[in-house]
Amino acid sequence: MTDLSRITCIEDLRRVAKRRVPRMFYDYADSGSWTESTYRANEDDFQKIKFRQRVAVNMEGRSTRSTMVGQEVAMPVAIAPTGLTGMQHADGEILAARAAKAFGIPFTLSTMSICSIEDVAEATGRHPFWFQLYVMKDRDFIERLIDRAKAANVTALQLTLDLQILGQRHKDIKNGLSAPPKPTLANLLDLATKPRWCWNMLQTPRRTFRNIAGHAKGVDDLSSLSSWTAQQFDPQLNWGDVEWIKKRWGGKLILKGILDADDARLAVDSGADALIVSNHGGRQLDGAPSSIAALPHIVDAVGQRIEVWMDGGVRSGQDVLRARALGARGTLIGRAFLYGLGAYGEAGVTRALQIIRNELDLSMAFCGRTQIDAVDRSILLPGSCPGAVG
Ligand SMILES: Cc1cc2nc3c(=O)[nH]c(=O)nc-3n(C[C@H](O)[C@H](O)[C@H](O)COP(=O)(O)O)c2cc1C
Repeated sequence: MTDLSRITCIEDLRRVAKRRVPRMFYDYADSGSWTESTYRANEDDFQKIKFRQRVAVNMEGRSTRSTMVGQEVAMPVAIAPTGLTGMQHADGEILAARAAKAFGIPFTLSTMSICSIEDVAEATGRHPFWFQLYVMKDRDFIERLIDRAKAANVTALQLTLDLQILGQRHKDIKNGLSAPPKPTLANLLDLATKPRWCWNMLQTPRRTFRNIAGHAKGVDDLSSLSSWTAQQFDPQLNWGDVEWIKKRWGGKLILKGILDADDARLAVDSGADALIVSNHGGRQLDGAPSSIAALPHIVDAVGQRIEVWMDGGVRSGQDVLRARALGARGTLIGRAFLYGLGAYGEAGVTRALQIIRNELDLSMAFCGRTQIDAVDRSILLPGSCPGAVG
């Protein structure tokens, strides 16, 4: 058993992940598009938001429990969908799903995962999880994915709207990102310094996009897979498709990637159950505002009519508290759990969740609140919030 008691913050996990994960996959996680200005702003803008410290308030009987689209959660945090998670650590999606299940928060599986929908369902005893859908041009494939999600006990579908086309990340191009990595000299030299990662990867058969390989027409080997995915994201995606998917799915629908109040109103009109204020972790439009700066505008526009969540830059329980104070009923974490996974596998994801919950619980108390559901903008110092408030 690894002793993680000296791992006390998400930054500790990031440092270990950087040592243990092959460079191309670490870089894939820890980067944003172009100049990375939006990627940096996601974290930086959180730090500008200051709390009002309150004293002599009875702090006993605290609870971070809440709900997201009606589902009980141990804290208002869900694991965000991230592609290639099974390359941060062998069987990464399964390990993260197990950690989330034990902790009592939702896990979201990406369309672009290494472990398939069926792998995760089987490995978690068919515990309910969430699935994230990218709209591909091959609509038969989408219909089958939705049916597979239903069969696997997926209870909510996150439809990602901000990736019809791809932002550019310099490092991914320079590193020649691929799953599994190609046996170039540079990759082999790097892998030689990551024996733990290699050993774990050799124990699993899951080393490529298993939601797609063998399921999409004509995709049976690695080269057909990469050319298929490269031309499958649908640039024509529009609100008509959202309506079609909502009908075809028939369950809870969450729209991911909203950054503008006008789009938020269209999301409400579409009949979705929740929307996620997100800039894809700063990986798409470089120069877009941080998610936390966009959040108050969207909450003011539609917060009475739909559950508003956010993601992007959440690295601590204090960040979860800030987002909650600004009206986000839920937050999603991407890198924070990926670093834990890359560093220590399932135990690392669990450690990331423990750290965040502990920080959330104590910070909430310092602000004079004992229940997360009682947190609102009044815990923040007016004037310290980027975006609409203050
Ligand atoms: C490595 C990586 C892969 C991602 N892949 C996906 C994906 O497949 N689908 C998706 O909707 N979002 C994807 N995202 C975006 C995340 O769901 C989420 O919006 C973002 O990570 C939140 O920012 P944070 O990492 O700062 O927490 C990815 C993000 C990262 C870091």
